[in-house]
Amino acid sequence: MAIHPVLRMGHPLLSQRAEEVRLFNTAELDGLIRDMLDTMHVENGAGLAAPQIGVSQRVVVFGFDQNPRYQDAPPVPRTVLINPVIEPLTETIEEGWEGCLSVPGMRGVVPRCSRVEYRGFDPSGERISVTAEGFHARVVQHECDHLDGILYPQRIRDFSRFGFIEELAEAGLLI
Ligand code: NI
Repeated sequence: MAIHPVLRMGHPLLSQRAEEVRLFNTAELDGLIRDMLDTMHVENGAGLAAPQIGVSQRVVVFGFDQNPRYQDAPPVPRTVLINPVIEPLTETIEEGWEGCLSVPGMRGVVPRCSRVEYRGFDPSGERISVTAEGFHARVVQHECDHLDGILYPQRIRDFSRFGFIEELAEAGLLI
């Protein structure tokens, strides 16, 4: 089990475009995925992208049955997704609270497409194609943004609903 420190906003790797994975079924890729899952679980993350542990590769992991950081969130299928592509399936935009292990202690309301299809590959190179909505769609969009060097604060439109968790909770804003 290898837990990695999660890079925080301001680290240059988090604002870079990550590289496509070219080789599947390798010990290196399997090791990366294991480390990402271990780190995500220890940090109670809803998801994690490889650049967050310092690896500039297009790999994301996400999913949980119950998440202590997002107690009201419905279950999201546990997924390892490589070289992902997201296609919006609607023009409907939904607002929802997000946090990020790279932006510790904070939350913000982020507009996201409410229904998407995501495609990519699993660790053995098999194609994945899934339709997602609600929080599942939100998590995928958040994680895939990491691969293009985008952190959720860059998606915020209303900065009155962005801040430290304790302050937002105290003000009754964080629902
Ligand atoms: Ni994040």
